[in-house]
Amino acid sequence: MTPRGGADLEVNLAGIRLANPVLVASGTFGYGREMVRWFDLRRVGGIITKGTTLAPRAGNPPPRIAETPAGLLNSIGLENPGVDAVVREEIPFLREFGIPVIVNIAGETVEEYAALAAKLDRVEGVAGLEVNVSCPNVRAGGMAFGTDPLATAAVVRAVRNATSLPVMVKLTPNVTDIVAIARAAQEAGADAISLINTLKGLAIDVRGHRPLLGAVTGGLSGPAIKPVALRMVWEVAGAIDVPILGCGGIMTGLDAVEFLMAGASAVAVGSATLVDPLAAPRIVEEIAAYLEEEGFARVGDLVGLARRTLAGGGENS
Ligand SMILES: Cc1cc2nc3c(=O)[nH]c(=O)nc-3n(C[C@H](O)[C@H](O)[C@H](O)COP(=O)(O)O)c2cc1C
Repeated sequence: MTPRGGADLEVNLAGIRLANPVLVASGTFGYGREMVRWFDLRRVGGIITKGTTLAPRAGNPPPRIAETPAGLLNSIGLENPGVDAVVREEIPFLREFGIPVIVNIAGETVEEYAALAAKLDRVEGVAGLEVNVSCPNVRAGGMAFGTDPLATAAVVRAVRNATSLPVMVKLTPNVTDIVAIARAAQEAGADAISLINTLKGLAIDVRGHRPLLGAVTGGLSGPAIKPVALRMVWEVAGAIDVPILGCGGIMTGLDAVEFLMAGASAVAVGSATLVDPLAAPRIVEEIAAYLEEEGFARVGDLVGLARRTLAGGGENS
């Protein structure tokens, strides 16, 4: 489906052809079933599924969501039906839409990540993997891998060896040096880097005199984290060669344009969908309108534009 305006919205993300640069972020769209009554999924560039593990997971104790002034704290804990059920029931449903489906995977050990990648390799309708080494809400695995370059590399190498699918690695912002982790992921064979997952946070219930979330801490997402995400995309884009998927606080088309100009090749919309189910397709339209207003022929012209402008070579052609 072509949005209004004549600009070319197509992008290539690590070999995955997207009709437009807007994906829905993992965990904020389930496996798409609840969303089809809101809009035709073909209006977005692709779907990133809920984080999927080898065995089914019940997730963390409630409450799992707390609102903060400029974002959301969540501690879902990767509740999901397990990879076999996802392959059997969810992927066949999603592949009917003919858009790229990227499966977000999470494990507690390197072997689990490799087993997940092997199970998803050659499953019809799976266009790529997003390897979640960044979840702040699970005790083992998750963020524990993504805060250490060697552990990140070990996971990526194992996944790389287990699949021929494009491998995107989703990093946590809860580190001192994001560039070191991104470099390790690229050197271990990542085809793309996904930035960022949530920032670890806490909220207190002052009437109940206890933490608001059942799991005590959670991951902060939404507008509050956008400047952090943009800074990390900027730093990583200057240090690695593989494409970046930008994510964190994108609520509008102009937010997405900022990520593209910082060096992301595509974006993922997360919390915005929880506020407005139509956010992702609206953001596609808003990017198209921006391109038209500014006279850009292709969305690809925006990628890294602020970097080129800063270097003195980025005026609009
Ligand atoms: C309720 C919720 C569940 C999430 N579940 C996952 C998940 O399963 N796997 C993952 O990699 N990221 C997960 N995330 C992180 C988002 O994909 C995204 O990286 C983050 O929310 C930042 O983007 P946003 O500010 O646009 O929401 C989740 C976020 C939220 C709010």
